[in-house]
Amino acid sequence: MSRLTRCIVTLSVLLALPFAAAAQETRGLKVACGSIGIELQLCEEGVREWSEKTGYPASIVSMPGNTSERLALYQQFLSAKEATIDVFQIDVVWPGVLQDHLLDLSPYVPKEEVERHFPSVISNNTIDGRLLAMPLYTDVGILYYRKDLLEKYKRPVPTTWEELTETAKVVIEGERTAGTPDMWGYVFQGRAYEGLTCNALEWVNSSGGGSIVSEDGKVTIVNQEALEAIQLAASWIGEISPKGVLNYGEEEARGVFQSGKSVFMRNWPYAWALIQTNGSPTKDKVGVTTLPSAKAGEKGSGTLGGWQMSVSKYSTQPEKAAELVRWLTGPEVQKKYALRATYNPTIMALYKDKEVLAALPASQVLYDALMVAVPRPSKVTGRRYNQVSYSFLNAVHAVLSGEMEAQDSLTALDKRLERIGKDGTWK
Ligand code: GLC
Repeated sequence: MSRLTRCIVTLSVLLALPFAAAAQETRGLKVACGSIGIELQLCEEGVREWSEKTGYPASIVSMPGNTSERLALYQQFLSAKEATIDVFQIDVVWPGVLQDHLLDLSPYVPKEEVERHFPSVISNNTIDGRLLAMPLYTDVGILYYRKDLLEKYKRPVPTTWEELTETAKVVIEGERTAGTPDMWGYVFQGRAYEGLTCNALEWVNSSGGGSIVSEDGKVTIVNQEALEAIQLAASWIGEISPKGVLNYGEEEARGVFQSGKSVFMRNWPYAWALIQTNGSPTKDKVGVTTLPSAKAGEKGSGTLGGWQMSVSKYSTQPEKAAELVRWLTGPEVQKKYALRATYNPTIMALYKDKEVLAALPASQVLYDALMVAVPRPSKVTGRRYNQVSYSFLNAVHAVLSGEMEAQDSLTALDKRLERIGKDGTWK
């Protein structure tokens, strides 16, 4: 994380303090929300509504959009054990990483309220019987494609990575000749941050190469399928994907795709709502489907993502913070996230809500994608997940950028992960 980002966030927290302190004998709640797409705006609205309803002060602390930078900042705040921030929006892979700093919410959230969410997400958020987070929305990687261009070049929606590569080449050639010199084939999240772990896990898993570390703690990354999947991805750079993709997060990929400069994009469902807004150059020209796999006819696996709301163990207002979390993760707010920005609810009943179903991009595609979604190995690696993820994404980034051969990079990664995992114990 840049020093500048850290400074800006710290400053924004400090500047907010005197106002909140004057407002009450407490300083009110400070909430760290997400900020990809329009989620910051939605979170702000949710917090404001709760504050107006209850008369209790609560405000937002702005945070970096990049997931990995956000984690570093959270860790900095939490390791100081200070009550600077009360409520944290956390990634689905962080309950284990942050477990020592989060409040057990079970005494604060009625059982029936917990049980209305997908059991898999609740189980993900529960460590040693402690419910460390309430689910806000769930996510899965999907493939966006240009319907109009596939029709123009008479190519089917690709179901394998090879087919995607071939189709991208055909369309690029045609479109460049036809006068769009900066046309590309495939954009994704290739920067060295958590998003690359998600993308690379998809290439590997949907090629039959496992999920880095198995559920029982064995390092499984060295195998032929993983090797070939990463080699194929490396062949895209400068060919069907711009070199700049090595520095793309979600929003950079969306920018290129939405402006009409790429045939395919890998992203999360939130991009749909933005692509479909009035004035978007690609409105009504885009389709979504499950990611490709290595074998024709098999659905590729999208990485399971998603965000939760947690309360810091160091908050001096835990009851109020938990109350706000219940509101933010409740049906009204989840429905609003789905309708306004295509974030997938975790409350099962909302999937029977007609308005929600109409708003989500091809709800059947999302359902299929969620069914075959691959989780990152965060449960088994617990506190060490971030080290695992960083080792993996750096190893992949080195191959994509041509610094290392895939075989050497994976062998080195294997050694590193064995060391981090201390013989598969991950303790
Ligand atoms: C999305 C996902 C999250 C993932 C992140 C990576 O926000 O919901 O789980 O870690 O993207 O950039």
